[in-house]
Amino acid sequence: MSSRICQIVKNFFIIFIILTTFFQNTYGLDTAKQKSFSSSDEQDNYLEFTFTKPELKHYRDKVEQFFTFALDNYLSKGYPYDEIRPLSCVPKTRNFGNLNDLVTNDVLGNFTITLLDSLTTIAVLGDRQRMKELVNLVLDTFDDFAIDSTVQVFETSIRIIGSLMSTHLYITDPRKRVYLGDEYDGESLLLLAKDIADRLLPAYMTKTGLPVSRINLLTRFKELTVEFLNENNAAGMASPMFEFTMLSYLTNDMKYERITRYAFDKIWDMRSPLDLIPMSFNPQDRRLYSTMTGVGASIDSFFEYALKGSILFDDDSLYEIWDTAYNALKVNCRGDWLYYNVDTHSGQLMTYWIDALSGFFPGLQTLSGDLEDAIPKHLLFMNLWDTFGGIPERWSFDISNIISASKTSSPYDQLPKYQKMEQGKESQETLRKRNIPLEWYPLRPEFIESTYFLYRATKDPFYLNIGVRIIKDLEERFMGPCGFSGIQNLYSGEKQDRMESFVLSETLKYLYLLFDEDNEIHSTRDNVIFSTEGHPLWLRPDIKRRYKMESYFNDTTWINHLQMCETEEIQYLERMNNEGSDAEKGFFQFAKRLLSVSTESSSSSSKEEEKGSRIINDDDQDKIVVSNILSSPSPQCTKYAIFKSDEPNTWLTYSNILSHYDQLFEISHRYEDTLIQPKILMENYYLPMALEPKFYNVWADPKYSQSRRQATTIAMDLIFMSMNGTYLPPIKFDGNSTIRCSTFQGRRKIRLEKIAPRLIDSYGDIVDTSAFQEVQRKDVYNTGCDTTAELYTPSSLYRAVKIDGVDIPKGYRLELPHDELFVEPRDENSSLGLNYENQMMLQCIPVINIYVK
Ligand SMILES: *[C@@H]1O[C@H](CO)[C@@H](O)[C@H](O)[C@H]1NC(C)=O
Ligand SMILES: *[C@@H]1O[C@H](CO)[C@@H](O)[C@H](O)[C@H]1NC(C)=O
Ligand SMILES: *[C@@H]1O[C@H](CO)[C@@H](O)[C@H](O)[C@H]1NC(C)=O
Ligand SMILES: *[C@@H]1O[C@H](CO)[C@@H](O)[C@H](O)[C@H]1NC(C)=O
Ligand SMILES: *[C@@H]1O[C@H](CO)[C@@H](O)[C@H](O)[C@H]1NC(C)=O
Repeated sequence: MSSRICQIVKNFFIIFIILTTFFQNTYGLDTAKQKSFSSSDEQDNYLEFTFTKPELKHYRDKVEQFFTFALDNYLSKGYPYDEIRPLSCVPKTRNFGNLNDLVTNDVLGNFTITLLDSLTTIAVLGDRQRMKELVNLVLDTFDDFAIDSTVQVFETSIRIIGSLMSTHLYITDPRKRVYLGDEYDGESLLLLAKDIADRLLPAYMTKTGLPVSRINLLTRFKELTVEFLNENNAAGMASPMFEFTMLSYLTNDMKYERITRYAFDKIWDMRSPLDLIPMSFNPQDRRLYSTMTGVGASIDSFFEYALKGSILFDDDSLYEIWDTAYNALKVNCRGDWLYYNVDTHSGQLMTYWIDALSGFFPGLQTLSGDLEDAIPKHLLFMNLWDTFGGIPERWSFDISNIISASKTSSPYDQLPKYQKMEQGKESQETLRKRNIPLEWYPLRPEFIESTYFLYRATKDPFYLNIGVRIIKDLEERFMGPCGFSGIQNLYSGEKQDRMESFVLSETLKYLYLLFDEDNEIHSTRDNVIFSTEGHPLWLRPDIKRRYKMESYFNDTTWINHLQMCETEEIQYLERMNNEGSDAEKGFFQFAKRLLSVSTESSSSSSKEEEKGSRIINDDDQDKIVVSNILSSPSPQCTKYAIFKSDEPNTWLTYSNILSHYDQLFEISHRYEDTLIQPKILMENYYLPMALEPKFYNVWADPKYSQSRRQATTIAMDLIFMSMNGTYLPPIKFDGNSTIRCSTFQGRRKIRLEKIAPRLIDSYGDIVDTSAFQEVQRKDVYNTGCDTTAELYTPSSLYRAVKIDGVDIPKGYRLELPHDELFVEPRDENSSLGLNYENQMMLQCIPVINIYVK
């Protein structure tokens, strides 16, 4: 219940005790009484949005009812087929008639996917009786997976192998509520997991050792067309490593780990000099199909499993991959509110959209400890839900660019927003195609998953409130007669007659866990890791020990195959070395890029001035910039532990995000051109979640809640690049206000903000005019600069505000190495220079906080 961002602070226990006392005073309950709550008591004993124990229980029970309702419908009307259609109440089966219907057939292998994928949610609910019944049902249904179905290797691995192993762990672990003891033979589910893994493994029988995307469970390569064989993506090829390595631990047979880890490492080896991994290529010959990268579809679980694998298997080399890959994302993809899709070689922006799958990333960042960046990135998805009532499969963050790029601008585009909305059906349609190019939402879990992780890390009721909204929406907008249906078109509200298995295995599981404070998963001392399909996995020490002692890799077919792959690898590298151009090697390159107004931090000042402020209090010069807890790299949590003990009967804590995060409403402002609510939601929909009155009134601290001013400056990124550069350690701010980038080899990206008197800078402050007095203007190198007077009062200056995607705290200065910046022979026409105070000059304008020494 504590509202602070960092959980572990000195006064944690004090706050805890106060709260406990408080509950007792309010309800006059002791623990024994709480346990014997009858349901009518519950109704009377909590207020909405207080998130007391009874209220949490209320929501938790509600999610459990949702799950039971949907699963019962599947079991009675969908089983033994893969899914239940939530609207028409008949099974959704594999498309036996059209094998090329990949959307359906990739996951619907005619193998009761909903049943298999739901098992671990029952484990999380702790329903032992149900678990026993369903495990028996699985074992009655399958002796093995000898089914003539071509399915996706990745999907089958995460949904079926992951679920079977996780369930096996649960029911064989005496500490778990669903432990089945003698009522389970101790191996059947594991044998099924092994059986299907053996059927998937032939996908790795390629020259490179990278898997093809699909395989037939019975006949291996039958039916596989050339397209099936020739394209796969990074996530699909790398991710099975996680489930298969776990399978090795559980079976002692190392082949699963060896084969899939080989592919994982090979994907990493294909990274660009910027440490970015391309998304899509041919597993037969590694030919690239796309040089794009990002954190969404096709690449997402590569990052996820690098980090999660490093924790689950205690594997340093995986952690190093995660660390390097994440740093590369920070440098090249990180924006203020989202991660961009960029080109792996140049780092240049490639798309004006992000996808729904990338919503998992804030959760992963939370797991990695980077709350500071996870919080704003998650807020973007909250804004998407607020706007569209779900997360569009693809959302364009910049429609103006799409319009100008496609040159389809019509008079309609010039109209202000409110008029656009008056344009009727056709305009709605036009708009939809631009701002949500893929308009469906199949109840994907990623946003909820991240919400759950952030709640566990912060305990901020802000995240519970999101859960409440989602529950409400599930009930009012997604529930059908036989389950929860996705939405086909968020603009028209048209529903999908489909409930994918991840609704039961992930969406509802994370939602349940959000409210189930006492779940055993929250108090376990095992390193429980959720797979990318939401199946909890952990490695008991005895299993680890046994694996160390008794594991074997004696399958000669695979031993030979991996050897062959390695030989091929050597030949490949030799070929590359001969062909590879080294034209750019050794040259220090300087590249700059002016960001277009809407892709980054700041917008043009004229536009901003028209708009005026929203929740900004311009008079308040003494604004407490508490939000620096979130944006500064060295958060000091203790400052923000706030409680009002002096006022009886009021809540002791506030939502930290709601009260102290002063950019809470910036997203809706910055992206207002594309966050446009569909008509069907406008009349009957609720306020944005953060402003839900009942929540806001309880959790916002009026003393502090305020927004920082919108920046009115323009920003640009400078990229310093050296092709033979080595891995650069991420910049860390240690409290010393000078940051020395002593080694500059590699690639650094520095964001400069152009400041001028009276503008509002990216810290939300009015630019201090004192910086503009008597500035040294003479450029030591660039003779093109006008140097008639050495000192002058410039109209604008530059200031560095980010380095490698990390915010530079206000008042900090950077020191860059002279000899690496200015190489001989010097280019006198370069836009980069130096004045006599050793300040860096860009286009004859000093950068006031970069010094070159
Ligand atoms: C699909 O599964 C059902 C139920 O197990 C079975 O009756 C049917 O024969 C299967 N269809 C095919 C084409 O394998
Ligand atoms: C591999 O080793 C295991 C354990 O020693 C053994 O049970 C199995 O029969 C061996 N398989 C082969 C193909 O040698
Ligand atoms: C980069 O290449 C240049 C020229 O070959 C060399 O002098 C320099 O030491 C290299 N830097 C690194 C970090 O390898
Ligand atoms: C902090 O900065 C000062 C002044 O630039 C410098 O003398 C000192 O060595 C720095 N301390 C650390 C720990 O870097
Ligand atoms: C700098 O620009 C001038 C004029 O455009 C040109 O004559 C000169 O060659 C350039 N110098 C270099 C080093 O490129």
